[in-house]
Amino acid sequence: MWAAYSAADGRRNPAGSPHVNYDQIFDEAIGRLHAEGRYRVFIDIMRNKGAFPNARCFHGHNGPKPITVWCSNDYLAMGQHPKVIEAMENALHDVGAGSGGTRNIGGNTHLHVELEHELADLHGKDGALLFTSGYVSNDATLSTLAKLLPGCVIFSDELNHASMIAGIRNSGCEKRVFRHNDLEHLEELLAAEDVDTPKLIAFESVYSMDGDVAPIHAICDLAEKYNALTYIDEVHAVGMYGAHGGGISERDEAAHRIDIIEGTLGKAFGVMGGYIAADTRVIDCIRSYAPGFIFTTSLSPVLVAGVLAAVKHLKASSEERDAQQAAAASLKEKMRTAGLPVMDSTTHIVPLMVGDPVRAKKISDILLAEYGVYVQPINFPTVPRGTERLRFTPGPAHTGEMMDDLVTALVEVWDRMDMELREAA
Ligand SMILES: Cc1ncc(COP(=O)(O)O)c(C=O)c1O
Repeated sequence: MWAAYSAADGRRNPAGSPHVNYDQIFDEAIGRLHAEGRYRVFIDIMRNKGAFPNARCFHGHNGPKPITVWCSNDYLAMGQHPKVIEAMENALHDVGAGSGGTRNIGGNTHLHVELEHELADLHGKDGALLFTSGYVSNDATLSTLAKLLPGCVIFSDELNHASMIAGIRNSGCEKRVFRHNDLEHLEELLAAEDVDTPKLIAFESVYSMDGDVAPIHAICDLAEKYNALTYIDEVHAVGMYGAHGGGISERDEAAHRIDIIEGTLGKAFGVMGGYIAADTRVIDCIRSYAPGFIFTTSLSPVLVAGVLAAVKHLKASSEERDAQQAAAASLKEKMRTAGLPVMDSTTHIVPLMVGDPVRAKKISDILLAEYGVYVQPINFPTVPRGTERLRFTPGPAHTGEMMDDLVTALVEVWDRMDMELREAA
């Protein structure tokens, strides 16, 4: 298609720059990805409702073939939960498919209002605000907040997610990046600013590629000492930690010390969307000033109904959380015993270090093609170069037998690729 627009073709280039060849520029950009081993291939699968983590894979020419999914962020399989499915089916029949508008113009249904109340309650805040994704909630909120605070400086953990980085960049404010979870460095940077400068500390609770956790109370201590606002991304924790699924901030009894809690509705809650929870004043500002909230069609009420069912269920039930923690502990133990280089994760994330993008992709390809194991390689820019890995997310539905099969497959592939196993732990 681009050929019709290229300078080489000449038809769309009457001004005549023989040096601008669009096809070539795009081909070279794609070529760089191939050369670095980080060209992305989306694996074509269909989940089997009610049988997760079993799915069918249409990848390659022999499909569909049965596979086990090991890298889903539907962490608790709530996307398959009967209550969620029923709520979505009912909503579809009762109110139809789409929301029909922005929240301000026709797209505010009673379901949206109810879900916001439920999420505010989950985090012990006055209010909550829905967005179309976790990415949008971070981008829209951070960019708007910092614009509202004159001269604001944002202190950002170096491993913050791309959506937070985008929000900070889009705010146009000054940014100071502190070393990951490094309180001394954070304090040094805070202390260097004028006392009268508005400050915001932005960080995550569970860092999803390493599976480690932020020292929330210690960060809040610094925020209080230096009069900074706190913004936490709990995307990889909501639904999964705390007695009601309020995240690490609930588990650590720190939610009241955080000014803005952000989460997703697409991972442990199993559907789609994002949100923030905060005091009414902050919510009022974001809903009134953030273009990423204002100028977009609101979430479909069908999605909202599904999330509502998931949030209510996980507030009352710890069964899925407990089963997930048990599955993660068991898989880590089995990998360690087999000498596989499982990284030090203190959470439900089970990362296996490979350290090379081409190898990580090759291992993932072999696992899928020969063992029916689906685990995506994680490459730069999602993780730093040289730390490429496989990231497993065992959940309540992964059985001990599935784990044993997985570990056997991994050991065989490690061996075939001449990669060293550790001394069995
Ligand atoms: C830490 C973090 N924040 C935000 C997001 C974006 O959430 P969503 O997938 O709902 O857009 C992600 C997505 O993976 C994430 O890892």
